[in-house]
Amino acid sequence: MKVVIIGAGNVGYHLGIKLHQVGVEIVQVFSRKYQKASRLALEVGSKPVSNLADISKEADLYLIAVHDSAIREVATRLATLGVSGKLIAHTSGATSIQVFENAGFSRFGVFYPLQTFSTSRIPDFDKIPFCIDANNPDDLSVLINLASKVSSNVNKINDQQRTLLHVAAVFVNNFPNHLFHIGDKLLEQGGMDMDLLLPLIQETVDKIENNKPNKMQTGPALRKDDSTINQHLKMLEKYPDYQELYRLLTHSIQKVK
Ligand SMILES: NC(=O)c1ccc[n+]([C@@H]2O[C@H](COP(=O)([O-])OP(=O)(O)OC[C@H]3O[C@@H](n4cnc5c(N)ncnc54)[C@H](OP(=O)(O)O)[C@@H]3O)[C@@H](O)[C@H]2O)c1
Repeated sequence: MKVVIIGAGNVGYHLGIKLHQVGVEIVQVFSRKYQKASRLALEVGSKPVSNLADISKEADLYLIAVHDSAIREVATRLATLGVSGKLIAHTSGATSIQVFENAGFSRFGVFYPLQTFSTSRIPDFDKIPFCIDANNPDDLSVLINLASKVSSNVNKINDQQRTLLHVAAVFVNNFPNHLFHIGDKLLEQGGMDMDLLLPLIQETVDKIENNKPNKMQTGPALRKDDSTINQHLKMLEKYPDYQELYRLLTHSIQKVK
C-alpha cells in the first residue's frame, strides 16, 4: 500500500514512522515547512514536499494529520489536484467524516488513534485504540486492515461515537494533565518535587482498571469535610484561577452522579 502523509506534526510523525516500520510504503511526506517534511521523509525513506501542488497522484491513501481547523482547507485543495477519486482519511477525533464529501472526495474515512502524542515520546502503538470509519465497506476494510498492522485494538466507530469519545478523552487526559501541572507548581512553592505525587497518580489510574471511577473517589469534597475545604481555599487565595478550579471540581464531585 502506498501512503502520502500530509502533516508532519505529533501524529503525522509517529504514524509515518510506525507505518513505515510495518512495511507500508510512504511515498511522500507533506508539511508546509520543508524542514519538517524532510525530517520525517528521511526516517521513512520517502520524499518531502512543501507544496500541495506537488502531491503524488499515485498513492492508495492520503492520510491527513493537520490541525483540525485546516482539514477542510487541505482536503478542498487536494480535491482540485486530481486525487478526488482516491481514498483520503483524517486522524482527528473531533472532525466529521463528511468534511471530505463537502471537499469533493468520493472515497473517504477516519483513522483516529485514541492516544496523546508528543513528538519527543515514542508511543506504544500496539495498545492504542484505533477508531476507524469510512463511507463504504471496501474502504472500511482497507483502513481496518491498515490499522491492524500497527495496533491490536481496532474499532469501527461512527462520527457521533467518535466526537463523544473525543470529549471524554479531553476530560480524562487534557484536564487531569493540567491538574498535574497545578500540583507540580504548588509543590514547587514548598521546595518539593513532583516525584512525591507520582505513586498517588499511579494508584488513581490502577484502581479504575477494575472499578468504576465514581466508586473509587476519596477526599474532602466527597466527605463534605468543610473545614479542610475552607482551609485549602484560603491557601489558594493567592492563586485565584486554582481556587476557582478547586471550587468547581469540589462542586462537581458533590453534585454529579
Ligand atoms: N496530538 C495528539 O495527541 C493527537 C491524538 C489523536 C489525534 N490527533 C489529531 O491529529 C491531527 C494532527 O494533530 P497533531 O497533534 O499532530 O498536531 P500538530 O503537531 O500541531 O501538527 C499539525 C500539523 O498541521 C499542519 N498545519 C496546520 N495548519 C495547516 C494548514 N492550513 N495547511 C497545511 N498544514 C497545516 C502544521 O504544519 P506546519 O508544520 O506546516 O505548520 C502541523 O505540522 C489533528 O487532527 C488532531 O486532532 C492528535
